[in-house]
Amino acid sequence: MSKIDYSKISVIILAAGKGTRMKSNLPKVLHPVAGLPILYRTLTQIKSLGVKDVRVVVGHGQKLVEPLVNNFRAKVCIQKELNGTAGAVMSADLNSAQDNIIILNGDHPFIRAKELDDLIKKHINQNSEFSVITSVVKYPGDRGRMLYFENKPKAIIEAKDASIETLKIKEVNTGMYITKLNLLKKFLPKLTTHANSKELYFTEVLSLAVESDCKVSFLKASNDLAFGVNSQEDLAIATGMAFKNKNKILMSKGVVILNPKTTFIEELVEVGPGTVIYPGAHLKGKTAIGCFCVLEPNVFINSSCVENSVQIKMGSYIESSVLKEKAVVGPYAHLRPESHIGKSAKIGNFVETKKAIIGDGVKASHLSYLGDVTIGANTNIGCGVVTCNYTLNKTKEKTIIGSNVFVGSNTQLIAPVELKNKSCTAAGSVINKDVPEKALAVARAKQINKENFKKD
Ligand code: UD1
Ligand code: CA
Repeated sequence: MSKIDYSKISVIILAAGKGTRMKSNLPKVLHPVAGLPILYRTLTQIKSLGVKDVRVVVGHGQKLVEPLVNNFRAKVCIQKELNGTAGAVMSADLNSAQDNIIILNGDHPFIRAKELDDLIKKHINQNSEFSVITSVVKYPGDRGRMLYFENKPKAIIEAKDASIETLKIKEVNTGMYITKLNLLKKFLPKLTTHANSKELYFTEVLSLAVESDCKVSFLKASNDLAFGVNSQEDLAIATGMAFKNKNKILMSKGVVILNPKTTFIEELVEVGPGTVIYPGAHLKGKTAIGCFCVLEPNVFINSSCVENSVQIKMGSYIESSVLKEKAVVGPYAHLRPESHIGKSAKIGNFVETKKAIIGDGVKASHLSYLGDVTIGANTNIGCGVVTCNYTLNKTKEKTIIGSNVFVGSNTQLIAPVELKNKSCTAAGSVINKDVPEKALAVARAKQINKENFKKD
């Protein structure tokens, strides 16, 4: 079948509901599933199809949802009264919509462009006027059940209105529909408020269409597509599904994941083949990990760039940082934002860095704080070195350390201060004056030995 012209289709996403069952102040559609809000996921897929006219119906938490919709250059439609899914569709400014319309529940995180495209083709092939996307699932739960009469679609029965017999039906409504503007204009005004919930159910458009002998279809889709989030428990299940799927994709590309069940990699993260990931790793945001890296157990990496052959040892926490090739970090290192770790540099256990440009081959192997600092290549930072960057005047000052410098253990560097290339500091020194090239700075109390101090 030829390609679908998505510029001639309007997509309406229903995202105005209260999401009462979430018990959360955050609008339901903004809850992240493996790092990406549910609505962000849907909008990404829809936009990738080339749909120009995307409308998002917002209501509850409008101020919070709007910026996301605007980021995707989609249209915000406001549902003033939250009177159900049909009320939401009526709020979508239908007069300016295209003839062909797709309606999507906003709380389904796994709507995929390719699957939707196939479903639209089926809808066209069947010459359908109104298609409901359905799925046959193991646990239908609170989703609407698909009712047939003489093998023909008849109605959607909401779980709360269903008889015990109807509840046994495993084919459910995914809350996605493909239809025509004319049909909506004809049937939406005929809907009546539901007796129990006082809501207008969009699902009842189907019954009206059937009664009027319109050509209606139930189109079966995957279980993933049918998964809607109504509660925190659903959100956790969706998150688990997303992580599982991401691990699967990475493993198919040659990433070694020792235990996918306890490895949590968000959607936008990239990992190169040959990298080995131990259990408990959590990779977030726009993180990119190169090839042949080793991430030991329980590393947490957020929005960072890790080049090839980097080793990150157990329990390290890394945020908005860059690690160049062959760097070795941890165990238990804390790289705070804007840490830039040079090629083959070593940041050892209990070392904290922040706004730190650390040169190639630098070694800071143990127990240091390196903040607001630049360190040249091949410098050695002894154990317990501290950059004292925060002044009494509450300003942050810089420490500059050249290349091939030897900073003795337990040196305190009172910023602003500079240690020039090849200089040294004696262990235990408190340095508050610049140290010239190749000089040794000793800034500690002289040792006095008191002979025979201890009585027998
Ligand atoms: C709905 C369907 C059900 C289907 C299920 C699939 C109806 C009546 N029922 O039930 O058949 O199996 O989805 O997940 O449609 N919304 C608004 N404005 C409102 C009410 C809801 O925009 O006034 C939005 C919500 O934000 C949500 C979507 O519509 O994104 C669905 O609403 P929800 O209350 O979650 O419907 P379900 O009970 O899941
Ligand atoms: Ca729902």
